[in-house]
Amino acid sequence: MMAAMLRSLRSSTTSSRFLRRPYSSESHPERKVTVLGAAGGIGQPLSLLMKLNPLVSRLALYDIAGTPGVAADVSHVNTRSEVAGYAGEEQLAQALEGSDLVIIPAGVPRKPGMTRDDLFNINAGIVKSLSIAIAKYCPNALVNMISNPVNSTVPIAAEVFKKAGTYDEKKLFGVTTLDVVRAKTFYAGKANVPIEGLIVPVVGGHAGITILPLFSQASPQANLSDEQIIALTKRTQDGGTEVVEAKAGKGSATLSMAYAGAIFADACLKGLNGVPDVIECSYVQSTVTELPFFASKVRLGKNGVEEVLELGNLTDFEKQGLASLLPELKASIEKGIKFANQS
Ligand code: LAC
Repeated sequence: MMAAMLRSLRSSTTSSRFLRRPYSSESHPERKVTVLGAAGGIGQPLSLLMKLNPLVSRLALYDIAGTPGVAADVSHVNTRSEVAGYAGEEQLAQALEGSDLVIIPAGVPRKPGMTRDDLFNINAGIVKSLSIAIAKYCPNALVNMISNPVNSTVPIAAEVFKKAGTYDEKKLFGVTTLDVVRAKTFYAGKANVPIEGLIVPVVGGHAGITILPLFSQASPQANLSDEQIIALTKRTQDGGTEVVEAKAGKGSATLSMAYAGAIFADACLKGLNGVPDVIECSYVQSTVTELPFFASKVRLGKNGVEEVLELGNLTDFEKQGLASLLPELKASIEKGIKFANQS
């Protein structure tokens, strides 16, 4: 009798320990995250990284094809979120419904010799149609735009949402985190400072000279020469191209981009969950400069953007960089707006 009781007690504690999920929904609210373009080069590692995030309870993986396989694969990882794959436009509504956060890496990547703007003709249309669907099926979701050229695709999404009457400037983000990730890596390497906890704001946009790292605001500070700062700035601006060339026709950054996308999505989810003082750089609607969209430090909160932070003090070199990026960024914004408003 006693032995039987002990056995049943033991087995119930054992099974409850095994049944308990690694991250219970009691500690974090339910959050549905949808990845649009989940079967692609960025989408696959990004989906895996989002599966590892304990803040996600449902992970919807959408692409025009290939998502049943990616979803089956990722779903075996023993973390909190339930995973579902959606393939083809007829399943897009289902993928989007109930989303708290939509991450968009959909589209085609660069080949050597191409700028991000060269992707406009293909990716602009993809982003436009995905944005129409977001406005229809999850108008309240935060949107993290990764599809290039980000400088134009964010304004395209904004225009689509405006037309649909769902635009909330607090909820639309261009992901520029990879610029920050690169700036930190390159700076830490040159300055010989610990990479853990390093802060380097990167402002402007997400293409070539529109990427403006503010090494004068790096923390911790290191005593680098002007030449070193110029070289680090250029390497950060050309970081994407460095990868495109190394991949020699096989695409652009996918793994580091997925990492950066996952970091930014995590920050957005923390903001939604009310974690205080979540600050990341992002390309958002802005009054920091005369341009309607601009990347700078943003405080994230329960509604998305809580506060767009000012640029702070710039060195003469950074001021020059800012002056020279504005015309290019302006043109990219206008190109996006014009495209979105064509029928
Ligand atoms: C890059 C691309 C993915 O920065 O925009 O590498």
